[in-house]
Amino acid sequence: YDAWLSYPKLPQGNLYTQYVKWCGAVSVTEEQETVQAALREWQRGIASMLDIEAGASPAADGFSVAFGTFNGGNPRVEAIFDEAAGRAVGPEGFAIRTSLTHKCIAVGAASPAGVLYGVFHLLRLIGSLKDIEHLDETVNPVNALRMINHWDNFDGSVERGYSGRSFLYGNNRFTDDLNRITDYARLMSTAGINAIAINNVNVHALETLFISTYLPDVARIADVFRTYGIRLFLSVNFAGPMHEGEVGTADPLDAGVREWWKTKAAEIYTVIPDFGGFVVKADSENRPGPFTYGRDHADGANMLAEALEPFGGIVIWRCFVYNCKQDWRDRKTDRARAAYDHFKPLDGKFHDNVILQIKNGPMDFQVREPVSPLFGALEQTNQVIEFQIAQEYTGQQRHVCYLVPQWKEIMEFDTLAQGGTAPVKHIVDGSLWGNRYSGVAAVSNVGNDRNWTGHLLAQANLYGFGRLAWNPELSAEEIAAEWIALTFGTDAAVAGVISRILLDSWEIYESYTAPLGVGWMINPEHHYGPNVDGYEYSQWGTYHYADHQGIGVDRTVATGTGYSAQYMGSNAQRYDSLEECPDELLLFFHHVPYTHVLHSGKTVIQHIYDTHFEGAERAAGLLAAWSGLKGRIAEGLYVQVEERLRGQAAHAKEWRDQINTYFYRKSGIEDSGARKIY
Ligand code: GCU
Repeated sequence: YDAWLSYPKLPQGNLYTQYVKWCGAVSVTEEQETVQAALREWQRGIASMLDIEAGASPAADGFSVAFGTFNGGNPRVEAIFDEAAGRAVGPEGFAIRTSLTHKCIAVGAASPAGVLYGVFHLLRLIGSLKDIEHLDETVNPVNALRMINHWDNFDGSVERGYSGRSFLYGNNRFTDDLNRITDYARLMSTAGINAIAINNVNVHALETLFISTYLPDVARIADVFRTYGIRLFLSVNFAGPMHEGEVGTADPLDAGVREWWKTKAAEIYTVIPDFGGFVVKADSENRPGPFTYGRDHADGANMLAEALEPFGGIVIWRCFVYNCKQDWRDRKTDRARAAYDHFKPLDGKFHDNVILQIKNGPMDFQVREPVSPLFGALEQTNQVIEFQIAQEYTGQQRHVCYLVPQWKEIMEFDTLAQGGTAPVKHIVDGSLWGNRYSGVAAVSNVGNDRNWTGHLLAQANLYGFGRLAWNPELSAEEIAAEWIALTFGTDAAVAGVISRILLDSWEIYESYTAPLGVGWMINPEHHYGPNVDGYEYSQWGTYHYADHQGIGVDRTVATGTGYSAQYMGSNAQRYDSLEECPDELLLFFHHVPYTHVLHSGKTVIQHIYDTHFEGAERAAGLLAAWSGLKGRIAEGLYVQVEERLRGQAAHAKEWRDQINTYFYRKSGIEDSGARKIY
């Protein structure tokens, strides 16, 4: 339940002695609630890791820790940081310095939230056995918006939730358990999150009233979040004005509609003065939107933006817009093209408090997709990238799939915008185009399960997302190491095993589920488990076109849908070319015969067989590796993961056999390894 805030007891030794020396006293002078929350976190962490109480005044030897805002009146903080030090710290950043002169480790920040981040940074250093006697760091978050999207519904269900029910709502009521929400806010803020949208992007009838009838309940959650430096956002229904029967239309250019939203915004800010703004899924998967009135997305978003602007609110408008009623017989329409085709022409038309939220890939959080070509194409529009921490297509938190390596790869992808080096991370942090707003958002994977995420190891994705949003330069290994130390303690052997499991897990999952960039070989609707043709004849635009000769989607310019041309420069060429296209995306861009030879030297069919046999074996290997931890970690933690890994190993075999058999039957080509294919 405590996840990365369990503060495991540290081993005796030199570092332990060092920590006890410095941490015996803590000086905090501000009553401000966030600073006080930081103090509580500090005391909790120190008591648990070191088994000492942090007193208010230094012991005889005079060592202490002090923290506060630069102008908060804490004499030690003010003595240790001069003005220049303060200037280097951004609104949410912090400085941390060990002063031997003052016998004090000080955390100073420009804002209370910065203090909280700094204090947790110090706790993390201690929790992962780092020296704290020579600290001198200034740390600022790279991304301004570090956001979590809940897909929780008022009835307590969670769309694509794999960790139980919602802990925010149940039976169309807001929860009374503010303690759990407080613990959630602690978890999120210590991972660096500063914005949370609390309801599903598919806004149903009652949730439409969150901005009116239920506003007092929403405000209670906002109060909890505020203490932890988190701004609350709501997903809103574009047709809201019609729901309450006040206005007969939702046309964004209608004066009555515009007035309605302005009034709503004013009402919201009266009770939630720091309200973040709206998240909007419009004209997508049957949600209402401006298209109904012959208006475009800019008309829709700008109308909401105008309502929020006077209060500093923002509109986060999602780009997940495509035709979800496609005819599978129609080979021209390509869902992958949709976001770019809809939004590229609108570049520059959005108000500057509108942010477009773009899914990382052109389809929908598949195990492997290319990066959305909208990144780099929108030069005059604020944008955030949307990841999915919830493992909808990556094992649903029954399989382990540490997603940080995937996110890293995406953030590093060079879009070649402006003809130069333009990785996604520099687009979403706003530095490439100098955007007013920018950042990273992700669909949450939490629920009311005791361990928050169903699979204990899925906590690493939640923590990892926050850390990566804070600083995309952190490596997947570093993030895993932090999470492991904070969750399981500092036993190096334990850390080695868990780290390997996490770091290999995406590759393993990909190997038995999604060869060469093919996605969607899953059961319709719930999306769990193998079903090669599950989406082949559907309306969703998700096909692989496998027949007895070959497989893959032709997205080339000459003979296919032309999607490859949405990329810039050599990226477009590389994807368009059968020779140059990277193996892992080959079938996303090309339809090839099973005998096509990959860069790896294998044929496509042999690759499919090999990866599925190996993948299932490696999945079994994860269980074997975990078994080695029995007795080395708390039994409760050991058992829950063991059970899931056992299930994964069995399910990986099912994947292996269904996929291998399917392609063996289609192609009639024997496995060169002569292994058992049913
Ligand atoms: C996916 C997912 C839906 C979700 C949608 C979205 O299609 O399966 O449940 O509503 O994405 O991101 O809006």
